[in-house]
Amino acid sequence: MSVQPILKMGHPMLAQVSQAVPQDQLGSPHLKTLVGNMLATMQAVNGAGLAAVQIGIPLRVMIFGTTKNPRYPDAEPVPTTVLVNPTVTVVDPKPCEYFEGCLSVPGLRGPVMRPSTVRYEAVDVEGMPIVREATGFHARVFQHEFDHLNGVLFPARVTDFARFGFTEELERGGLV
Ligand code: NI
Repeated sequence: MSVQPILKMGHPMLAQVSQAVPQDQLGSPHLKTLVGNMLATMQAVNGAGLAAVQIGIPLRVMIFGTTKNPRYPDAEPVPTTVLVNPTVTVVDPKPCEYFEGCLSVPGLRGPVMRPSTVRYEAVDVEGMPIVREATGFHARVFQHEFDHLNGVLFPARVTDFARFGFTEELERGGLV
């Protein structure tokens, strides 16, 4: 497991659709190394989530989880989760607003509206099924990472550009 460099917005790979992990790769040393590298990288920078494409591997693999995260001090804990080939269904489309950030968009935050509750299905690194209903910060971080798998970064979803900016400026203005 090793900490990897994180691609930043503008790198063309971040705009591409990631490919499904082939069935015969589930449980493989290659996939386990990828996930290990993702976990090490996310922990090294106090991230709440990371998609494989952010370390230059365009496969449909995401991780997330947080206990007490200094980047998101108000966020409730989310179990550390590894998802391979996830799919999503909206359970409650009621839109919620939250100021998102991204390790590939360092220093910036902006308000993004997303459905409040989703159900996701995926397999873990060994190919075992995972089905969960998620709400609150859990639903938020899942949907943010899921977007990465489809080449979408949060600035494309910012709903109010008057409140999109550098974290320290937003904090100084009392916006976050
Ligand atoms: Ni991100």
